[in-house]
Amino acid sequence: MSELHVFRAPKIEAEIRVPGDKSMSHRAVLLAAMSNGACVIRGFLPSQDCQCTVNAMRKFGISIEQPEATTLIIHGQRGNFTASATGIDCGNSGTLMRLLCGVAAPQHFETILLGDASLSSRPMRRVIEPLTKMGCTIKATGSGYTAPLTIRGGALAPIRYELPIASAQVKSAILFASLRTPGKTTVIEPIATRDHTEQMMSYFLVRSHREKLGNGYSISMYGDQVPESRDFTVPGDISSAAFWLVAAAAQEDSDLLVRDVGLNGTRTGILSVLLRMGARVREVVEDYDQVEPRGEIRIQGVRLRGTVIEGSEIPNVVDEIPILAVAGALAQGKTVIRDAKELRYKETDRLAAIAANLTLMGVEVVEREDGLEIYGGSPLMGARVKSFGDHRIAMAFAIAGFFADEETVIEDTDCIATSYPGFDQQLQSFLTPDENPPTPVINPAEILERN
Ligand code: S3P
Repeated sequence: MSELHVFRAPKIEAEIRVPGDKSMSHRAVLLAAMSNGACVIRGFLPSQDCQCTVNAMRKFGISIEQPEATTLIIHGQRGNFTASATGIDCGNSGTLMRLLCGVAAPQHFETILLGDASLSSRPMRRVIEPLTKMGCTIKATGSGYTAPLTIRGGALAPIRYELPIASAQVKSAILFASLRTPGKTTVIEPIATRDHTEQMMSYFLVRSHREKLGNGYSISMYGDQVPESRDFTVPGDISSAAFWLVAAAAQEDSDLLVRDVGLNGTRTGILSVLLRMGARVREVVEDYDQVEPRGEIRIQGVRLRGTVIEGSEIPNVVDEIPILAVAGALAQGKTVIRDAKELRYKETDRLAAIAANLTLMGVEVVEREDGLEIYGGSPLMGARVKSFGDHRIAMAFAIAGFFADEETVIEDTDCIATSYPGFDQQLQSFLTPDENPPTPVINPAEILERN
């Protein structure tokens, strides 16, 4: 099992790119596989999670070439898949398992979905319930509605379904199933979650109707639609950029430019939080051509101050809570995170993992059922901390190590490969910029405030 050894980092002055967006990479593969012809996907994230999606589609009989790690040529078969002779391995990916439930539900055969130990303990009832209402049968053979899942697909009927929890994965599973379901399916989300499925379906010329409803949306779609084959370039993942954004934001006089990153408004909540904490942030959308906005983020560090993260903001920063908790530990005063109980059902119980690791690093933290109270501003102590097999916990605490006296060791960091191949090299270039020089770009006088 590998470890990361991190020590205090010099200030950041750099221009970087990050690997492709994970959510969009999964969806690009699924939509291309359901389309009516060949699609070239560029900027694909070649992480373990997304590679599982490629393998899953191959098992459904889809031909996929991968001439280089980040480029796929996918030969869509209009959603006519063939049964997989063996179970499909979803690895560590909750997104893949839940989206695949929706993709497999209208197929007239049986599909078995498997996952690793972490994925096999995550709740699947949330996706089983609406898809069962549409007419398929999903048997969760693990205890308490967990994987392995056996899906007996077939002809589905449309539903109108209000999500009991804010989950883009559940919403997307229903929308994928509705693509091959005659009639009008409606999903109501009381709080807005990431809308990549809706945006990317519209790029692939699938018609849907999205209407604002309180803090959320109602999304309706008429089924029997085949996505039109199109090429798609995946922008960088703002959730991967998040680690470097916080590293720069929390260090006075740091200056970081992240190029070619996805700037979908359902994902940029971290920029609003860092602004509230006092960082100087500039966000420039450069391109809307493929419906999903992309552009650059420039961030300048200051002494951060504590903030409150709660309510309808949570889904927008759901994957950034571990690194925002580290930002809270580095900020002056108290940072409160609440309404975030969903964090307990991620790759690990993230609230417990964050509280345990911050405590080891000498931070005063109170763990609540649905959040954390973090008393920041005191020096961090280097410590030996665990990843809990969770990529975002591992990476968040590598950044905490940038700010600690003495060395920080993060144990069991192989999990980082599920979402961020190349994280270690990027980390080294910030730790030892003289040996791994970054590209100089920054003229601080040019920095404009985001608002
Ligand atoms: C994702 C949705 C979120 C997020 C996950 C990716 C997606 O999960 O945490 O990393 O791509 O749809 P939930 O739907 O469980 O909130």
